[in-house]
Amino acid sequence: MEKISVQLSKNLKSKPTDQKNLGFGRYYTDHMFIMNYDEGEGWHNPRIVPYGPIALDPAAMCLHYGQEVFEGLKAYRADDGRILLFRPEKNMARLNVSNERLCIPQIDEEFCVEAIKALVNVDKDWIPTEEGTSLYIRPFIFAVDPHVGVHPAKHLLFVVILSPVGAYYPEGLNPVNIVVETKYVRAVKGGMGFAKTAGNYAASLKAQDEAEKIGFTQVLWLDGLHRKYIEEVGTMNIFFVIGDEIVTPALQGSVLSGITRMSTIELLRSKGYTVNERLISIDEVYEASQNGTLKEVFGTGTAAVISPVGQLLWDDKRMIINDGKIGTISQMVYDTITGIQWGKITDTFGWSTEV
Ligand code: COI
Repeated sequence: MEKISVQLSKNLKSKPTDQKNLGFGRYYTDHMFIMNYDEGEGWHNPRIVPYGPIALDPAAMCLHYGQEVFEGLKAYRADDGRILLFRPEKNMARLNVSNERLCIPQIDEEFCVEAIKALVNVDKDWIPTEEGTSLYIRPFIFAVDPHVGVHPAKHLLFVVILSPVGAYYPEGLNPVNIVVETKYVRAVKGGMGFAKTAGNYAASLKAQDEAEKIGFTQVLWLDGLHRKYIEEVGTMNIFFVIGDEIVTPALQGSVLSGITRMSTIELLRSKGYTVNERLISIDEVYEASQNGTLKEVFGTGTAAVISPVGQLLWDDKRMIINDGKIGTISQMVYDTITGIQWGKITDTFGWSTEV
């Protein structure tokens, strides 16, 4: 690959001063990374430039048919000053899985990890230091051919932007309340559910909006065929502690293969827990909540980190989990994963990469 050119901004922005109230996705740093794809040339012209608007032809294909994929990862500032990324190579590998599904040309994964490190390094002063904060990294690729015909693009842009963030959910580490969605579906097998692409999130907006109107934070998606088996939350994967077993829905094509999900499974197994990736129906969860074996429910995601679930509402059936409090397994997973991410505990798994 070519060398990354760097054009530094002459108008540096002021950084948010209140790191306790960053929210999520509200602020963006001074620079962004861009690289072009043109048929015949491949990916080329990698560059770091001042953050700003991107001019698009109104006929740009991404605006019409949603040929877009994205990723989410974070940079953390350790107490000793190191800047750490959490398994960035897994994000780039997943981006190529999404690319394949969306007919987007493959990227050079190692080069893109280096590009992310270079960008984070340029804007390193934006990495917040307050407990629970980080620099969210959003790589994305979209089709720019000015062509209102439904075909794979021949011209695309790969962009990376950075945003200092706090907790994704206003609840932070306090348990979130979630509605089991029985009217809408997010994805079906054979569709794009496993890909990180805008359309999956567009499909979730209506249900999300309705959930918020009745005071819930998110929706839990059921499979699109039987409307019975649990899939994911949309912003996170989900785990159930039932008796001595920890269950998370198997990846069967309609669930996103979360990197925090993968890390949670590896962590729990390393500590001797039984973790099964399998079909799990909402009826099974309800029964477990009725007979007292449903001990904990928690979500995992880059944005959401580890998010305990305090309540599930399934039509008129309300399940209160662990008295609406965070459970011991959820707390251990949170402490260990964030401890590794923030460089507070020894990373025996080799998950952290220094910038
Ligand atoms: C992430 O966890 O990084 C995501 O991309 C989820 C997004 C909906 C914020």
